[in-house]
This record gives sequence, structure tokens and C-alpha cells, in this order.
Amino acid sequence: MFRHWVCAGAFLATLPLANAALKIASALAVIEWAPEQIAKEDFYNGSVSIVDGGVPSLFSDTSVDLASNAETQSLRNYASHKNLRIIYTIAEVPYRIIAYKNKVKTATDLKGKRIGAIASTSSAYFVNRYMESVGLKSSDYTLVSGNTCTAEPCGSRTLPAMLTGGQIDAIGFWEPVIEIASRSIGPSNAIIFSNFTVYREIFSLHTTTEKLNNPAKRKEIVEFIRALEKATKLFRDEPEKVYARAAKAVKVKEDLLRAVWDHHFWPGTIPADLLEVLTEEDKFIARTENRAAMSQSTLKGMIDTSILDEVRGTKS
Ligand SMILES: *[C@@H]1O[C@H](CO)[C@@H](O)[C@H](O)[C@H]1NC(C)=O
Ligand SMILES: *[C@@H]1O[C@H](CO)[C@@H](O)[C@H](O)[C@H]1NC(C)=O
Repeated sequence: MFRHWVCAGAFLATLPLANAALKIASALAVIEWAPEQIAKEDFYNGSVSIVDGGVPSLFSDTSVDLASNAETQSLRNYASHKNLRIIYTIAEVPYRIIAYKNKVKTATDLKGKRIGAIASTSSAYFVNRYMESVGLKSSDYTLVSGNTCTAEPCGSRTLPAMLTGGQIDAIGFWEPVIEIASRSIGPSNAIIFSNFTVYREIFSLHTTTEKLNNPAKRKEIVEFIRALEKATKLFRDEPEKVYARAAKAVKVKEDLLRAVWDHHFWPGTIPADLLEVLTEEDKFIARTENRAAMSQSTLKGMIDTSILDEVRGTKS
């Protein structure tokens, strides 16, 4: 007992160093966060823990330093937390709509149909955006909520099961849900709609101004982004080195991950059109949240390129 106590004391004495640990909250069931795991395993010398969560975690738990999510959650949270900052985009993903080929020939055939997605997530915005691009208003179809599924067999309330069960006619979602749905109905029976220009998810790492204003914390964040830069480069250029570990981190089968790989882009930057995308999308989010849309100059405040500038040595 006493010996243990001594050990604990010795450990505590080293705390100033050991204390320097980053905590990241990410939705652990989506493929998009996987570069964080590779950054942690291969490139980051400090200590980092990655827990399940997302942007709201930054405000519910002040020990969380970084959080990753799609732009939809950036907007939902920035509306009430103006200290939120987007500092790095990890992934861009053009979502896909799947339907039965014998019932839907063109996207406009989705008029009057039930489309599965999750309200208040990027999937609902994607469906709205895509349908608008082919001339269909939200009153032209019914959005039906269902659950995600990352491994077969998918439970009865999941979107792929609802498609095969006939409760919905289509799904508009991220991966691997669309790939799983395609396998469930048979790829030759499926028709897929997607358009990067119309909608791609922008999945980014976020923090708060409090964290950025803390010099020690900021240093750790810079080092982690340095590591993420190397990780996203691997995802882009040498995916063979990461497939197995990324699949394990996200808990999807490796063949499924490989099948959807081409729908994921790993820019490791801040997209040049991010502010325009946010401004346009907030009009939709504001309607669903019953608030006024934020102006472009307000939204500009959410984007902080200074960490990336520092990492790349382009700080002016
Ligand atoms: C991490 O530690 C290794 C081994 O001590 C060292 O070679 C490397 O330069 C360090 N990397 C960074 C980014 O500090
Ligand atoms: C994608 O959308 C853009 C903008 O609406 C359009 O110009 C383009 O033709 C579309 N691409 C495809 C393949 O449908």
C-alpha cells in the first residue's frame, strides 16, 4: 500500500509534463475522423485522447480541446457559442442518394417519395440541397428519419433496413450507409445520385478562442495539426498504409472502407469557399432552428486560419 502511495507521489511530481495532454471529441462511428487516429499513432509525440462526441462536447466539457464534426454542427453550435473556431478541414465527402433503379430513373422521379436521412444533421441538408439542384422543393418529398448502420446486419430502424423493408424509397446519407444499402438491395438494382459541386460535407476540427488564447494549449494544438498534416497526406497518397487501421478505428469492415474510399477526400486545409458554403447552409439551418440566419461577416468569425498558417510557416 505504502509503496503504491510512493509511486503515485513520484508520478505526481512529473505532472507538469504529463499534464500536457490533448483531448479530442469526435463522432467515432464516422470514417471522417480516422486521420486523427493515424496522427495520434504515427506522428504526434505528445499525449492525446480521442473520445466519442463532437462540437457540442467543447461546451459541455471544458477539458475537451478539439472537436470534429461536419459543417452542420459548426453552424448549429456557433449560433449560440461565438467562441467556436474551425481550424482545419480533415475530410470532404460528397454524400450520395440511393434508390431502386426500377422505381427511380432520374432524380426528379424522387418527387412524392420518402427519403431517409437524419434531421438536424448534414444528411438532411444534403437531401435538401441536392433536390433543390434538380428543381424539387422540400414540400415535394417527405424526409423520414432512420438510424445509421456501419456494419451488417443492420437493425430494423436503420436506413438500409428501412429501404429494403419498403418504409422509405431512397436514402440520402454519408458512408458506409449508402454502400451497405447498395449491397442490401443488390448493386445492379441501385441508382445513385451525387454531385460534389452541389454538396460535399466539410468535416473539420474545431476549438474555442479560450483554448487558442492559452499559449501552452495553443502549442499543443499546433503540434497536433502538424501531425494531422502528415496523416491526411498518407490518406491522400498512400492509403494502403492506413486502410486496416482506419477501418479498425471506425469499426467498419476493411472491404467496406475500401469500397467507399473514393467518395472521401482528405484535403487537410481550409477550403477557399468555406465561408460561402457556411453562409448558404446557415439559411437552411436557421429555418430548421427557428432563428435568424447569421450574416457572412458573423460567420467569418468562426474561421481561424492562424493555426494552419503557423504550421505551414505562412504566418504574416
Ligand atoms: C518526435 O519524437 C521523435 C523521437 O524523439 C523525434 O525524432 C521527432 O523529431 C519528434 N517529432 C516532433 C514533431 O517533435
Ligand atoms: C452538378 O451540379 C452543377 C451545379 O448545379 C451542375 O452544373 C453540374 O452539371 C452537375 N453535375 C452533374 C454530373 O450532374
